[in-house]
Formats: sequence, C-alpha cells, structure tokens
Amino acid sequence: MTPCVLLVCRAREAEGRALGERLGLAATLFDPPLKPCLKAFPPEGAALALEPDGLGLYALDLPGSGAVRVDLEAGAMGWRLGADRARHETVVKACGLLKAKTPLTIFDATPGLLRDACVLAAAGARVVMAERAPVVAALVEDGLHRAAALAELQPLLALLDYRQGDSLQVLAALAAAGQRPDVVYLDPMFPHRDKSALVKKEMRAFRAVVGDDGDADALLPAALLAATKRVVVKRPRGAPLLGGGTPGLVFEGKSARFDVYLLQ
Ligand SMILES: C[S@@+](CC[C@H](N)C(=O)[O-])C[C@H]1O[C@@H](n2cnc3c(N)ncnc32)[C@H](O)[C@@H]1O
Repeated sequence: MTPCVLLVCRAREAEGRALGERLGLAATLFDPPLKPCLKAFPPEGAALALEPDGLGLYALDLPGSGAVRVDLEAGAMGWRLGADRARHETVVKACGLLKAKTPLTIFDATPGLLRDACVLAAAGARVVMAERAPVVAALVEDGLHRAAALAELQPLLALLDYRQGDSLQVLAALAAAGQRPDVVYLDPMFPHRDKSALVKKEMRAFRAVVGDDGDADALLPAALLAATKRVVVKRPRGAPLLGGGTPGLVFEGKSARFDVYLLQ
C-alpha cells in the first residue's frame, strides 16, 4: 500500500480534523479549488479530500483525473439501482435472488465502494457488510450520509447494514449469534501486475489505499462455513478460482465471472 494524505477544505475544518484523528492522518487545509493543492504533493499514492460537497479520493500521480466517491444517486450507479434494471444484473442472478421465494440476507464480505451491495439491495436483498480499509469505509460513510438526505433512496438504505471491520471476524460473530446469512458474496481485489490493465484511472487511488487483498483465499472457507444457501465469488474473466474451490455454477458477465458454491 502507498501513502495517503488528507486534505480538508477550510469550511469543514472541524469535521476534517475529526476524520483525520480517526484515520491517523494529519489534515492539510485548503481553499478551493482543490487541484493546485493536489499538484503540490509528490506524485505518489493517494489524497483523501474533504471538499464542500463530500469526500473524494484522488490518485496523486494523476491529479487531473476524477475522484473516487460514493454517489449512490448519480450516473451509472443511480441507473443500475432501478429495481427493474437491478434484476438483470449478473450478480443478482448469481446470488439466487430471482429464484428466492422469500427475501434473502446477503453478507458482502468485500463491500468496497458498495456498487454490488447496492445492486443486490435494489433487487430486494438485505445486505449486511463489513469493510476493513478505513479510508474506504470513510468514503462509504460519507456517501451513505449524503444519501440519507434523499427521499428516493430510503427504501434502499433501509436494506443496508454497514459495519467497519474484518469480515472474517464479523462472519464468525454472526454465526456464533445464530445469524448466519443465506448468501456470502466475495469480491476481493485481484492483483493486476500489468499497469495497462488498470482501466479506470481513478481506481489507481482505490488500489493505493486498499492494496491487493493478498489474504483473499482465506475468505472462501470462512464463507462456506457461514452461509446457509450459497457463496458467490466475483473474479475477472479468465482469473484463477479463489482459494482453490470448485464452483457448482458459473455465470459469465461482461467483464467479470461469478463462481457459485451451492450449499443446499
Ligand atoms: C474489489 S473491492 C470490492 C468492490 C465492491 N464489490 C464494489 O462493488 O464496490 C474489495 C474490497 O474488499 C475489502 N476487503 C478485502 N478483504 C476484506 C476482509 N477480510 N474484510 C473486510 N473487507 C475486506 C477491501 O478493503 C476492498 O475495499
């Protein structure tokens, strides 16, 4: 993982300093616009910026590229969240949501920026999740906070249970409390060695703060123990199986493959 700096617009100084304390990052104050401030840092790692309208993550070697933000209502994400559209997503089919007779509870062990979690919730699942990367969790909490002000997102938000922490521990705790999820969904980072494979420039910043999830294989056995109905693993097309498993079903999407381990 590479370093991350925290930039806070002067108008949100108190909030920014509290966030810095939580993340163990010193806050550097800026007056908008942000771009000149980004350019003042060495071109390495990422900058988390608290701007007047929300929190964003920038790759410092690409200060002109867009921010990674969690905007549930905007752009492609907002479009995918229509209930009718969500039902056509491969992740929804792979999780067995279309055939379920009662609403399913899915544990998303690798929620990242919540894109898959929100599509699953838009298709009617209750989604419990735990994220271990503190900077990613800060981006998501900011996005959820802004979404809470939007009436049209209330039904979706009511289905999301977001926690910070390691999913291995949260899964074990849920199982011990008799709250095993129907489905466990896994989408760990996949180590791209080839830089040209990093299609989206903004995702460079995400990778900088998350790393490669080199311990991802351990998620599969834990998921198989915790889930009651199935475990679904998302992988890039052509990538090797996670954890040496043998899936019972495979769904091919446009850029991803979903390996499904059936338990019933
Ligand atoms: C590829 S991203 C997931 C993207 C996500 N599916 C989405 O739609 O935005 C992987 C995420 O899983 C998180 N992660 C990996 N292993 C984890 C673990 N054991 N516990 C919690 N989070 C984990 C990483 O920090 C990263 O944010």
